[in-house]
Amino acid sequence: MTSSALKGGVHRAWRHESAEKHVTGRAVYIDDMPSVPGTQEVWLATSPHPHARIRSIDCAAARAVPGVSAVVTAADIPGVNDVAPIFSGEPILADGVAEYAGHPVAAVAASDRDTARRAAALVAVDYELFEPVLTIEEAMERESYVAAPQVMKRGDAAAAIAAAPHRISGEAGCGGQDHFYLEGQVALAVPQEDSDMTVYSSTQHPTEVQHGVAHTLGVPANAVTVEVRRMGGAFGGKESQATIVAAIAAVLARATGLPVKLRLARDDDMIVTGKRHDFLFRYEVGFDEQGRIAGLDILFAARAGNVADLSTSVMGRALCHADNCYDIPNAHFRGYCCKTNTVSNTAFRGFGGPQGMVVIELAIEHIARTLGMDVEAVRRANYYGDAPRNVTPYGQVVDDNVIGEVVDGISGKADYEARRREVAAFNESSPVIKKGIAMVPIKFGISFNVKSLNQAGALVHVYTDGSVHLNHGGTEMGQGLYVKIAQVVSEAFQIDLDRIRVSPASTDKVPNTSATAASSGSDLNGMAALDAANRIKERMTGVAAEHFGVEPGEIRFADNRIYAGNRSLTFDELAKMSWAERVSLSATGFYRTPDIHWDGETMQGRPFFYYAYGACIAEVAIDTLTGENRVLRADILEDCGTSLNPAIDLGQIEGGFVQGMGWVTTEELWWDAGGRLRTHGPSTYKIPGSRDVPPAFNVHILEDSPNPHPTIFRSKAVGEPPLMLALSVWLAIRDAVSALADHRRFVRLDPPATPERVLAAVEEVRAP
Ligand code: MTE
Ligand code: HPA
Ligand code: MOS
Repeated sequence: MTSSALKGGVHRAWRHESAEKHVTGRAVYIDDMPSVPGTQEVWLATSPHPHARIRSIDCAAARAVPGVSAVVTAADIPGVNDVAPIFSGEPILADGVAEYAGHPVAAVAASDRDTARRAAALVAVDYELFEPVLTIEEAMERESYVAAPQVMKRGDAAAAIAAAPHRISGEAGCGGQDHFYLEGQVALAVPQEDSDMTVYSSTQHPTEVQHGVAHTLGVPANAVTVEVRRMGGAFGGKESQATIVAAIAAVLARATGLPVKLRLARDDDMIVTGKRHDFLFRYEVGFDEQGRIAGLDILFAARAGNVADLSTSVMGRALCHADNCYDIPNAHFRGYCCKTNTVSNTAFRGFGGPQGMVVIELAIEHIARTLGMDVEAVRRANYYGDAPRNVTPYGQVVDDNVIGEVVDGISGKADYEARRREVAAFNESSPVIKKGIAMVPIKFGISFNVKSLNQAGALVHVYTDGSVHLNHGGTEMGQGLYVKIAQVVSEAFQIDLDRIRVSPASTDKVPNTSATAASSGSDLNGMAALDAANRIKERMTGVAAEHFGVEPGEIRFADNRIYAGNRSLTFDELAKMSWAERVSLSATGFYRTPDIHWDGETMQGRPFFYYAYGACIAEVAIDTLTGENRVLRADILEDCGTSLNPAIDLGQIEGGFVQGMGWVTTEELWWDAGGRLRTHGPSTYKIPGSRDVPPAFNVHILEDSPNPHPTIFRSKAVGEPPLMLALSVWLAIRDAVSALADHRRFVRLDPPATPERVLAAVEEVRAP
């Protein structure tokens, strides 16, 4: 147990390691790094057409602009023009065919960005226009997919639906979402001796950038070093697609022999790089008089964009979250990743989970409206419970279920039943403004849904003055990973946090890493860092035992000291003594998640080490004349296991919820008939602002709830799950609309519930 005298350790609210730097503007992002003289900047020439063959590209006029150092196209790539994360054939510059409006066809490096921009406009491309496939519906009709459909089956859904007393079916959709990280995509490539390249990249995945750069340059991985100090937000948008930006910078750095920085302007960032997948759903559900689901059939179709990128993994997670917290005894889920002539969609906080949950929550409401039942009663009729009601459609047993605790906990804290009556009373006397209130429970599976990605490494050095250098494979994107891992090492050595320096993630310190993603950054890297620290601690313990003439079992680390009974040494004295005894004070650590397996063919297994749970109750008001809506109050209870850092976790819960709120209310991506994204800046694409944060916002972390599975200090992942709590906002808006017809009608109102859509739903619900 850590004493409170220690200025460190786990389960305590330490601030983000860069908190002061963030708020004073002193944190250094790639664009803030002092520029080496001669550094070139880049602008991309992109296709204005969503689908066209490139007959020829004439770069002469662009090259002739004074200050331009290089113009490259696919033909100028020295290695392989492919950075696909899962499949292959995903070029960094369009090769022969442009597949979306915004597809980069050439990249220009110049002494400054304005010059590069002017020159890029002079790149002359001769296009032969093809018919584009723009929407999910068109792609489904033409069977245009980026990969084979995925099918998940449990029991016999068709038979169960046919035999059920009640059957309903429906169609719905949900929108995509731009990541809108504050720091856009950026990379700085610096050529070194021989063919070596150092790349500073704003990426969640240094190793994938290393591979991508090595492939495009045609050099081995050991010639490329990628370093990431921090990102100004990533949210999944820099899991795979940061590689495109870094590889283009590296190709230009090779072409010019100079450092090259590629920083996408906001509009280009939004047009050129992918987003959350929008989905189309068709569902059919059979159920009994109590609302208990007997069988569920869902077709999921996602707009993958021009290439696969991570789409099949995203779809896999969508299928694995279409149950949310409910036992579906007979399930048949099919997932189609549609190939369209739009930008390739990618990872985004939740990674398909949010989309998967939209359908089941809709189905629950649909059942309630059909039977004239209370929505919460239908939820209760379907929650996972004891065996045999604890097996997911993919065969994993839900063995850590705290749904009941979380739902009861938040219902009590938020006074849910009384407030539902108050909302009903308000609506009685308010003809124009209607209120709505809804609860959503969330269960989110923790682990990458690809087994091999669930591993991590760390490197720890103790110096002879007792200061500690910590490095691990995880990247810092604002989520507080670096302070959490430092807390783990502080706990292991029982030393203050300020003795520990976390150095930037770098492929030459910890190799072969996974993306910092799937919310598993602290689970994986925390364990690897603990392993490294424990190896050094064991050696230091040996030195101390020798020194005091006791058994190693009698040595205790506490409060920056090492004790043998009442005799003690300081940590730095022991560090110095260990060095003098020629004992190594450096170690690597490694971790792989146990007990997980997955068969991608049958979509069965135990893909998740454990589940993170949470619930939210949201109250909203809508204006039935304009469709405008506001969140009045949100109450959240989130299961963080035994939180590594409750301050950081609180921030993650609040931030995730508000980001999810944007997805289900105001953030609408809009492409015109020519396949051009028209919402490519903050004037037309509306993320939540500070005034959209609910005026009453009560966030609680579930207490006394250690993770039953052996995670790092029994904590749970927290990065993504809270985003899905915002589905309660969408459901509350639906509840408000539904109040207009005494909750007897089921209407279509897909997320995002923009004013236009709310108004359309109001009209539908009022129609005779
Ligand atoms: N929080 C901040 N501030 N910035 C981010 O970019 N990304 C989210 C989440 N929280 C993100 C964030 C996503 S998509 C993931 S997967 C996790 O953080 C990744 O970090 P973790 O695994 O360390 O939680
Ligand atoms: N989450 C995020 N990234 C991933 C995943 C996942 O589950 N699987 C593969 N890449
Ligand atoms: Mo998060 S979408 O797994 O980067």
